[in-house]
Amino acid sequence: MSRQYHVAIVGATGAVGVEMLDVLERRKFPVSKLTLLASPRSAGRTLKFRGEDVPVQALGPDSFAGVEIALFSAGGGISKEYAPLAVKAGAVVIDNSSAFRMDDDVPLVVPEINGADVKNHGGIIANPNCTTAITLMGLYPLHKKFRVKRVFATSYQAVSGAGAQALEELRAQVSAIEAGAKPEVKVFAHQIAFNVIPQVDVFVDNGYTKEEMKMQGEGRRIMHLPMLRASVTCVRVPVYRAHSIAVSAEFERPVNVAEARQAIEAFPGVRVVDVPAEKKYPMPLHVAGKDDCEVGRLRLDCAMDNGLAFWVCGDQLLKGAALNAVQIAELV
Ligand code: A2P
Repeated sequence: MSRQYHVAIVGATGAVGVEMLDVLERRKFPVSKLTLLASPRSAGRTLKFRGEDVPVQALGPDSFAGVEIALFSAGGGISKEYAPLAVKAGAVVIDNSSAFRMDDDVPLVVPEINGADVKNHGGIIANPNCTTAITLMGLYPLHKKFRVKRVFATSYQAVSGAGAQALEELRAQVSAIEAGAKPEVKVFAHQIAFNVIPQVDVFVDNGYTKEEMKMQGEGRRIMHLPMLRASVTCVRVPVYRAHSIAVSAEFERPVNVAEARQAIEAFPGVRVVDVPAEKKYPMPLHVAGKDDCEVGRLRLDCAMDNGLAFWVCGDQLLKGAALNAVQIAELV
């Protein structure tokens, strides 16, 4: 029998955690034992894995005895505190938070792009920001062909990217408004139902948000392109699941749409959906729940030389989080 692993999920009850459970099962990851960890609020709950009820335990310093692979998705603070403890206990940590993404000794990996970087890990491997990962699934095949210089992008990000409570907030606001009641605003800074919010994450000194600067910072590391420049506006939209990004990218080499399309079609994990005459293009409703990202609206950018414009959609809980994390675990 092939080797089996003791796997832990930290944040198992969260929007990403439950997807991790599902992806491990779906991809038949060789799990000998599964340890599910969350806050004390969830202790005693059970979650289904391969038809069996697995109890959720409260995360603590002693949670990692015997754990070989620990998938973290409970926020940066929890990762900073507990990932080193998991490594000390002998586990390889795959961290979905932003806590370690810019650390030089922590590989930041999209397996289809820089899977080979995994081997440089010292116990922790970081999973990229969801919007960055989905954008790069469209951009990287084009970069390989035409060499990208800079990127202008706007994201349309689903509420589930902000966690299970954010998803619930949109549902509750829609119901309240339909019932003629005042919607309650808790997770987001403003009402998200029937609105769009041009802020994801906190603002930094240059006027962008942290989320917006991740595309440049993380994109440089993942694509091994230290000179990449990216100007991004991240927007939260009232979509339950799957992020969309409108991208204009400038390349060193002359571009053409036919070769761009071929490059994307030949790349694993991404599909071209691009028949404008039949109104076919990627949409969050269509990619939600799917592993592959989709690219469409591919065209020559009319405002720059050697520019391509495209639209990419991906399920941020899957390629942007749980799927990418499990793919990294498979490489490990
Ligand atoms: P819980 O469900 O018990 O609060 P989301 O991103 O969907 O908001 O999920 C966050 C995940 O992180 C949940 O599984 C949540 O558990 C977990 N979490 C939040 N705070 C803690 C904590 N202090 N210790 C362990 N897990 C936590």
